[in-house]
Amino acid sequence: MRSSWLFFVPLAFAAAGIAFAENSAPQGTTTIALPTGVGPTFKPGPGAKAAGKYCTTCHSSAYVAIQPPLNATQWAAEVTKMRKVYGASIPDDAAATIVQYLTTEYGKP
Ligand code: HEC
Repeated sequence: MRSSWLFFVPLAFAAAGIAFAENSAPQGTTTIALPTGVGPTFKPGPGAKAAGKYCTTCHSSAYVAIQPPLNATQWAAEVTKMRKVYGASIPDDAAATIVQYLTTEYGKP
């Protein structure tokens, strides 16, 4: 009985030492690598800031990026749908800026 106790206690300390050495990042620090292209960032351009402000509260910019190139009428309908159907709170002038921006950067004339 006594001999097995003497064997297991050093073993437990050794295991704890290994666990501590592997976890060498400072306590409370976590690093997460996010997938690219699905963040809240829109392509740069006039209106990108408004899009980032009003179009990423419910979903990422990927919802815009994965659409086929839409024309101005189609983007306007999309923005209207976000406001009227899904309740996005976007002032009229910002909505017009966003439609112009989306048509230029993610659409066709
Ligand atoms: C109030 C929340 C909300 C805001 C703000 C919002 N959306 Fe959406 N959006 C949604 C929802 C809900 C869906 C549908 C999600 C689904 O079907 O999985 C969606 C879907 C989309 C889609 C995919 C196509 C479709 O019609 O379903 C696009 C493109 C899109 N949003 C663009 C925008 C743009 C551009 C803005 C800014 C003008 C915006 N969204 C702001 C809620 C929002």
